[in-house]
Amino acid sequence: MSEGLVSAAYIVAALLFILSLAGLAKQETAQKGCYAGMAGMSIALIATILSPSTGGIIFIIIAMIVGGGIGWKLAQKVEMTEMPELVAILHSFVGLAAVLVGYNSYLDHGVLIGAMKNIHLVEVFLGVFIGSVTFTGSIVAFAKLRGLISSTALMLPHRHKMNLAALVVSAWLMVSFVEQGGSIGLLIVMTIIAFAFGYHLVASIGGADMPVVVSMLNSYSGWAAAAAGFMLSNDLLIVTGALVGSSGAILSYIMCTAMNRSFISVIAGGFGNDVVASSGDEEQGEHTTTTADEVADMLLTANRVIITPGYGMAVAQAQYPVHEITQKLRDKGIEVRFGIHPVAGRLPGHMNVLLAEAKVPYDIVMEMDEINEDFSDTDVVLVIGANDTVNPAAKEPGSPITGMPVLEVWDAKNVIVFKRGMATGYAGVQNPLFFKDNTKMLFGDAKESVEQILKAM
Ligand code: TAP
Repeated sequence: MSEGLVSAAYIVAALLFILSLAGLAKQETAQKGCYAGMAGMSIALIATILSPSTGGIIFIIIAMIVGGGIGWKLAQKVEMTEMPELVAILHSFVGLAAVLVGYNSYLDHGVLIGAMKNIHLVEVFLGVFIGSVTFTGSIVAFAKLRGLISSTALMLPHRHKMNLAALVVSAWLMVSFVEQGGSIGLLIVMTIIAFAFGYHLVASIGGADMPVVVSMLNSYSGWAAAAAGFMLSNDLLIVTGALVGSSGAILSYIMCTAMNRSFISVIAGGFGNDVVASSGDEEQGEHTTTTADEVADMLLTANRVIITPGYGMAVAQAQYPVHEITQKLRDKGIEVRFGIHPVAGRLPGHMNVLLAEAKVPYDIVMEMDEINEDFSDTDVVLVIGANDTVNPAAKEPGSPITGMPVLEVWDAKNVIVFKRGMATGYAGVQNPLFFKDNTKMLFGDAKESVEQILKAM
């Protein structure tokens, strides 16, 4: 393949990536967006492998077969609820790749002099720095999401000063690195600092802010890829990295706005987030339980019903019987709508995907802001496997979720909470909703409970 043809293929791939992002912006076109992305990536891979500047094709093909085989196997096994962990670990690979490309580019850069050499050294330094932060930060995010380490924020004394010191020392190391014409010792010292910085940055962010962390790491991984693109002089990698980096940054910003968090404070490792979970697992009064029969009666005599799903619905895969209940009630003229919190579940749009999978009509699926004022006019709210996203503690000072907008389900006449026990949600905060007079707990697996209600109806 000639250089010209490779460039043309890269332009087509870049356009397909842009079309892919545009498609992914809407549920109806998301699948087409995925296909465009897959086509773009296939073109990019073929053009890169067949490019005249690529050597050792046999090794690349062996690596692709091994990597592709592992990816294929894992993708078949992974549950929808495990997607954020998968995304986090994949980001760590991008970070590690940027570190390795950086060291490789440092060791094997040919003959460079003057300004070109300095530019190259800065590219190497920044690429390794961003890659290292992304690598360890993503591993911590993976471990938190998988439950391998606690999701509560690590609160080391002077942690913000330590973060600032890591940045200042790294900047000073970069200047010295360039001035000395590239010293491997300084590069290694910075890599160790950046590994520790990435670890600490994500470890000090609490469970409730993890959605922002995942999208922020997505953004970092994009910038790490763009940095690798500069080092490899690969235009497509620069464009793709910039697309991932900027879309991840926009998503992080949207999430911060939705959760009423300051973007800067979250990316600075939970700056200003100094509250410690006070309520933990402790119960806050008496809770009342109910039965499937009682809930069925309540639903059949209601005029307005809102369903607020959360992570537990995804775990139980309850979306199909939930759709059946919805249809049954709508057939009887009862208004049923869904209230979706922006961070319900474990990945952006998690609940929307599940409900679309079960063929729930889009027009009855409302965003939190569209439905929050309607709870007071609602007869029954079914809280199916949601916890943090319906927690009134967010309205009180001193909680790790203070300030996060929540679905104000407690304003409804009756609230039914579907869960297996009194465990806390992802943020580790007990939920005062469960102890309110108008709340009844329906204990058990969400899918089984919903099926029992269907039977009783
Ligand atoms: P959570 O607060 O995580 O609560 C889910 C609840 O579901 C738990 O309290 C659990 O209680 C219950 N549950 C689990 N399995 C169940 C089953 N089989 N049947 C019935 N109930 C079950 O959920 P949420 O309200 O969706 O909030 C999401 C949380 O995750 C937020 O804190 C958010 O910040 C965080 N987070 C979100 C994302 C994104 S991007 N969406 C990413 C990472 C983290 P029991 O164990 O008692 O049953």
